[in-house]
Amino acid sequence: MKKKIALITGVTGQDGSYLAELLLKKKYIVHGIIRKSSSFNTGRIDHLYIDPHYKTNFFLHYGDLTDSNTIYNLISQIKPNEIYNLGAQSHVGVSFENPEYTAEVTGLGTLRILEAIRFLKLKNIKFYQASTSELFGKKFDKSFNENSNFYPKSPYGASKLFSHWITKIYRESYDIFASTGILFNHESPRRGETFVTKKITRFLARKFYGLEKTLFLGNLYAKRDWGHAIDYVEMQWKILQQRKPDDYVISSGKSYSVKDFVNEACKQIGFKIIWVGKGLNERAILINKNKRSTLIKIDKRYFRPSEVDYLIGDSKKAFKELKFKPKYNFKSLIRDMLNHDMSLAKKDSLLLNND
Ligand code: NAP
Ligand code: GDD
Repeated sequence: MKKKIALITGVTGQDGSYLAELLLKKKYIVHGIIRKSSSFNTGRIDHLYIDPHYKTNFFLHYGDLTDSNTIYNLISQIKPNEIYNLGAQSHVGVSFENPEYTAEVTGLGTLRILEAIRFLKLKNIKFYQASTSELFGKKFDKSFNENSNFYPKSPYGASKLFSHWITKIYRESYDIFASTGILFNHESPRRGETFVTKKITRFLARKFYGLEKTLFLGNLYAKRDWGHAIDYVEMQWKILQQRKPDDYVISSGKSYSVKDFVNEACKQIGFKIIWVGKGLNERAILINKNKRSTLIKIDKRYFRPSEVDYLIGDSKKAFKELKFKPKYNFKSLIRDMLNHDMSLAKKDSLLLNND
């Protein structure tokens, strides 16, 4: 049987790297688009890469979602059966600082791919758009599903809303197999260091080995529905294996605050903490025998001009139609992240002590 061909934008990111792994296991030929960078940006996929002079099913191409010509040429040359659009300026906080760039990449980037698919008239191509729970900025119901109202609260959310709707519009107008996965927060050992979960697990692991002093965080009371990226990328693939294109919410159905995340991670690593103070003066105090020291402080620069306070998903449709069965929960996700960060921190501390 002829091997399926997939094209992934954002292949160097958290999800892109796990998805490439999954598709290669499923015997796909995988093409990924990477950005030109003055330093290496392929750390998450280096283990998959084989010099194309030797036998490989994994190919990388330079490109950028702001560059229509390259997107068009790559799709035209590769003729993929499936395109996964995971590329994005994906940081909500950064989107307030770089709103125009975020709209270019996270919003218009999607349209550039859809236009290429339309112009090239490629038959049987399937398109996946990485939609997000950031579309649901305001709590109208107890939980959010495919029919909930959208109310984005950031330039990132608004750009993703454009991408979400334009995907539906191209599906309905041009009969393109274009689906979306409205994924709630998903984390992993490969999560970018500036997202809150990774910031916490990395800091605690390094603190354990004496490599850090204090962590600065923003809003401790925002609640998120956190899952594991390994479970969620499998659903991205499943969404494109359905008979008809559609939209699916992927979530764990449980919501925890940032403070809950800190408390659970501290418990797992064996740090005894108490919280004192209020507002910007709130702090986590580490109790080690009779000694007390400040472990976590609040820094107002990590607060956003507008915040999504509460997210919890309702994935009934995915449970039924995609047979979604996540292997990780809140505690095992944190354990996985901490195990990984502890082994990196241990290596760093050994290096430091050998110097
Ligand atoms: P991520 O780790 O931030 O990865 C983003 C990817 O996009 C990286 O490969 C990045 O390349 C690439 N990229 C950034 N700007 C680009 C540009 N101008 N042109 C081409 N590629 C560009 O994000 P993730 O967590 O894997 O998320 C994957 C997708 O799902 C994103 O679209 C995100 O918005 C969406 N999403 C994520 C979550 C979540 O909780 N993780 C939830 C819902 C939706 P570099 O490596 O060079 O920076
Ligand atoms: N990043 C960060 N850094 N967030 C902090 C911090 C901090 O120091 N302190 C508190 N937070 C709060 C944020 O204000 C937010 O309410 C919550 O922690 C989670 O922030 P992030 O981890 O940055 O993720 P996000 O929820 O804003 O966005 C992620 O999930 C979306 C899906 O809901 C990203 O992956 C998006 O790309 C994704 O669409």
